Formats: sequence, structure tokens, C-alpha cells
Amino acid sequence: MLTIDETRGELVLHGGDGTRRTLGLGTAEAFAAVSAAWLRCGWDAKYVYGFSWLGRPIIQLPEDLVRMQELVWRVRPDVIVETGVAHGGSLVFYASLFAAIGAGRVIGVDVSIRPANREAIEAHLLAPRIALIEGSSIDPATAAAVRARIAPEERVLVVLDSDHSRSHVRAELALYAPLVAPGGYVIVCDGIMADFAGTPRGKPAWGEDNPIAAVQDFLATTDQFVEEEPEFPFNEGAVRSRVTYWPRCYLRRVGGDDGGEP
Ligand SMILES: C[S@@+](CC[C@H](N)C(=O)[O-])C[C@H]1O[C@@H](n2cnc3c(N)ncnc32)[C@H](O)[C@@H]1O
Repeated sequence: MLTIDETRGELVLHGGDGTRRTLGLGTAEAFAAVSAAWLRCGWDAKYVYGFSWLGRPIIQLPEDLVRMQELVWRVRPDVIVETGVAHGGSLVFYASLFAAIGAGRVIGVDVSIRPANREAIEAHLLAPRIALIEGSSIDPATAAAVRARIAPEERVLVVLDSDHSRSHVRAELALYAPLVAPGGYVIVCDGIMADFAGTPRGKPAWGEDNPIAAVQDFLATTDQFVEEEPEFPFNEGAVRSRVTYWPRCYLRRVGGDDGGEP
């Protein structure tokens, strides 16, 4: 638990054992504590359900989008494969980055693309950079349809934002991680679920049934990927950690052949 005294510029952390620690509000540790409370508050209040990108609803925390922009700018993928389309906002977001860069396209996969969403995405001015594939992301036929749209030499960035259950994300990692060449990334979204297991909008099972557990299962089977948090490309402040719904989201490929069949 924490209490904030804005007048004194202090934050007090109350430990379960009755201990108290006082921190200056300007410290990275105080910022982290306030951010954790803010993330929880925003989860309960459905804060992320209040944004759009170039006309399409996008269900993401703004900082997560800024960090993705930093990664895309640095890695310069030819193709982003994203599972989980919803209203298409994140596809439009990545397409807009590619339009600014002058190269790149997005493949979006969803088990069910509502007709109104499909229509709006296909009518969007960035539609030429977006392909939609409808089907469960863990259906081998869906993964094959994705692979068929990617040339062997293309550099792929994978974003997993569909069903966030452990088994589903684990199956997605098996199918889509091989698309990423050494140096590239798989981004595993919504690892925050593990922290929100007991909350009103969470489920008790999330303590074990979450994307981070899937990543750990996957990493136990391969030495071709590592979990690796990039440094902020620009940082003149005290904060060194993301305020994110995607903790531990970065899987970087460090070995193996480029792409290929899973
Ligand atoms: C969190 S939303 C995606 C949000 C979107 N990426 C954005 O940023 O706006 C999750 C989506 O995953 C889709 N989904 C659920 N299960 C799926 C599956 N088995 N295969 C593919 N997509 C699935 C849902 O239909 C839903 O549209």
C-alpha cells in the first residue's frame, strides 16, 4: 500500500509487516510505486478502452505504443505480423509508422473480424499496407496463410495480442517465433495479467495462466531466443523502466536459421 503527500513531495510505502518507507516523489522508486497503482487503477477503469489511432479504436496503453514505435524505428522490419486485430487500431498504428518510414506492411490475424471493422480497415487510407487473415492464430492453416504472405528474405516482427492464455500464447510462439530472423523480436503483450489475478476485471487463474508463463515455457525449449529489455533510446530522466501492460514482453532471437518452417 502507498500514501502520497503531494504538499511534502513524499510517498510512504507501507509494508505488510507494519514497516514504512518514505520516498521523495521525484525518485524512480516512488515513480514505480505510483505507476504500479496507476496501472491497476487504469485496468479496473478500462483506461485503455479510450484511444484511437488515425480513426480506429486501439486498445493499448499509450506508452506501449511509443515503445513499439522506438522498436520499429530501430529494427526496421519489412513485415509486422500481429495476432489480435479487434477494431484494427494497432494495425493502422504500425501501418502509419511504415508509411512515415516509406516501407513496410502489416499482417493482422484474428479469429473473428467483425464486418464493420473489416470494412473500416479495408477503406482506411493506410489499407494498402494492411492484410487481414481471419482464423484462429493457432490453427496451422492460419499460420501457413501468414507464412505464404512473407518472402524468405523479409525481416519480420511478431506481436502476440490475441488470446493471452498460457496455452494459446505458447502455441503462437511455436508457430510464429520461427518467422523472426536473428536480431528480430517477438513481442508478447499483456503480461500484466499475472499481477492482476485477484482484481475485479481479472481471474484468479491468471496467476499461473498468463503470457509470461507461456514465454517461460517456450524459453525452456529453445536457446534461440532470450528475454531482453532494450534500453530507452533517449532518456535524460531518472526513470529506467517502462510503465506498461506488457512487462517482460521482448523476446529477441539470438540464434538459428532465418525464419523457416516451425
Ligand atoms: C486485445 S484484442 C486486440 C487489440 C488490438 N491488437 C489493438 O491493439 O487494438 C484481442 C483480439 O484477439 C482476438 N482473438 C481471440 N482469440 C483469438 C484466436 N484464437 N486467434 C486469433 N485472434 C483471437 C479477439 O477476437 C480480439 O479481437
